[in-house]
Amino acid sequence: MSEPLAGDPQHVAIIMDGNGRWAKSRGLRRTRGHAEGVESVRTITRAGARRKLGQLTLYAFSEENWKRPRHEVGLLMRLLRRFLIGERAEIMDNNIRLTAVGRLHRLPADVRRELDKTRELSADNTGMVLNLALSYGGRQEIVDALRAIARRVVAGELTPDDITEGAVTAHLYQPDMPPPDLLIRTAGEMRVSNFLLWQISYTELHVAPECWPEFREEHLDRAFAAYRQRVRKFGGLAGKTTG
Ligand code: FPP
Repeated sequence: MSEPLAGDPQHVAIIMDGNGRWAKSRGLRRTRGHAEGVESVRTITRAGARRKLGQLTLYAFSEENWKRPRHEVGLLMRLLRRFLIGERAEIMDNNIRLTAVGRLHRLPADVRRELDKTRELSADNTGMVLNLALSYGGRQEIVDALRAIARRVVAGELTPDDITEGAVTAHLYQPDMPPPDLLIRTAGEMRVSNFLLWQISYTELHVAPECWPEFREEHLDRAFAAYRQRVRKFGGLAGKTTG
């Protein structure tokens, strides 16, 4: 008997890599690569919504990205702010719910304001969740969760034995977020780069050779097709959940 295949992914997470390389290979500035990358964000968001994807999580700015030159960080923040304002109508028209994970308090106030506005406006939408990872690090998320748990232990609300996998999950930035089924990384790199470390323990990986600014629907299709051929066992035996 053949083993059951994975079907379509419900939650897709993407490490959008290669903006700089895409620009450099064309003799352009790195910042131009980021601007073109926003086009890919638009295209892939629309494609995901059309495919009735449950959730799309995009690694838009990592905690480590703060170390980049000031002008590059400034440009990324401006692009993000422009995206949050410019795509608001499109997000609403497509019934998309915008959410975010990360140390959001580190974002500039004007970006934070637009983020909050779009999140609030779209909060009751019932279609795809577009989740932006901003000032995000997987290790930092686990540290933040552990701090929150430690405070509750000190307050007498939890005992050490209450610290289960479920309790850690409950203290992550978005406790209700389902783990990604598929993690796509562009630009050919075989790394997870501190992305969703807790959540990707059994996520299927797909590395695309294309740089993010050239990543289009056909490349997403390719990733989905590869995913559909996977047999997911979660450490058990295919097709069996018990005994
Ligand atoms: C990696 O390319 C990409 C980033 C660090 C930022 C991703 C941001 C965007 C696509 C634009 C803003 C996002 C939204 C949601 C509006 P890189 O610069 O590391 O590329 P390289 O490795 O080739 O230098």
